[in-house]
Amino acid sequence: MKAIQIHQFKSPAEPQYGDVAEPQLNSGEVLIRNRAAGINPIDWKTCSGGGAAPFIGELPFIPGWEFAGEIEQADAESAFKPGDRVLGFIRFPQAAGCFAEKIAAPAAEIAPCPAALDAKTAAALPLAGLTAWQALFDKGNLQAGQRVLILAAAGGVGHLAVQLAKQAGAYVIATASEKNHRFLQQLGADETLDYNSVDISSTVSAIDLVLDGIGGDSGIAALQTLTPGGTLVTLPSVTKDAVIAAGEALGLKVEPIRVEPNAVQLSELAQRCAAGALKLQLANSYPISRTAEAFAESASGHVQGKIVITL
Ligand SMILES: NC(=O)c1ccc[n+]([C@@H]2O[C@H](COP(=O)([O-])OP(=O)(O)OC[C@H]3O[C@@H](n4cnc5c(N)ncnc54)[C@H](OP(=O)(O)O)[C@@H]3O)[C@@H](O)[C@H]2O)c1
Repeated sequence: MKAIQIHQFKSPAEPQYGDVAEPQLNSGEVLIRNRAAGINPIDWKTCSGGGAAPFIGELPFIPGWEFAGEIEQADAESAFKPGDRVLGFIRFPQAAGCFAEKIAAPAAEIAPCPAALDAKTAAALPLAGLTAWQALFDKGNLQAGQRVLILAAAGGVGHLAVQLAKQAGAYVIATASEKNHRFLQQLGADETLDYNSVDISSTVSAIDLVLDGIGGDSGIAALQTLTPGGTLVTLPSVTKDAVIAAGEALGLKVEPIRVEPNAVQLSELAQRCAAGALKLQLANSYPISRTAEAFAESASGHVQGKIVITL
């Protein structure tokens, strides 16, 4: 089958397109005929030797953690049967092999794909959608009526978090460049702030929950916006220790996160997306052979929504 492989961790990453053996199924797994896979910052970070690289094991490896496709092979006892359309976020942070024509996926980590969702949209939803969900509700315990500040609101995680927070009854303040403000207002943001021209830490206050999609100095500055007892959930793992230490010094709660596969949450996200209650913004798609270009676009740091590769 055709797949992307990484032979060496290096920056910038060098995803190579070529022929590899099809995956073998272990107990509890199904074989997927893949149609599309989502690109996330963790992909190029890991392939460059950062991110999840310590969990990958031997090289070469096939990157990619999320996909949409059809079941090609499943046990008779499986909840899935050949031909079923599914989507998944699997095995994270271990290698999952989603940038390939076929994937061996743990059946417990995939969900049915509603008929109304096309493969590109479905493939782009799992990682960002589950991160937004788990950050807002599992880590952040967001309640109706609370004020939430979302940093990097126009990105993959952020644009979904804006909508989920709004639907949960929160007051949503979103940071992005001016060009993304209308987009975020259409998604439900109550206020939009341009981080290029506004000092967020002195402009915003009485925040119950910060979803920090930037980390580092931006995450640390955003601590100033929290109400006493508020929480900041920080996404980038590389700066989490610095943000946690700054929170401790101020007596404020900082929660790091590592998104986890969760088929129940994924199914709920897919159903909301299919019903039109959750909009997944697709910025661009590339054929799998052009994964290097997809990585470069993601690494630019200014994607509106998500990028996918297609098979
Ligand atoms: N720990 C975990 O489990 C986990 C899970 C998912 C993601 N993450 C991490 O969380 C971060 C966000 O992920 P993502 O997938 O949403 O990234 P993304 O899609 O690449 O984010 C791109 C967005 O960031 C915005 N942006 C860039 N600099 C900004 C700034 N200084 N202030 C506000 N917005 C800014 C851009 O908006 P403008 O064009 O308007 O600047 C763009 O829309 C990444 O570091 C990712 O690795 C961690």
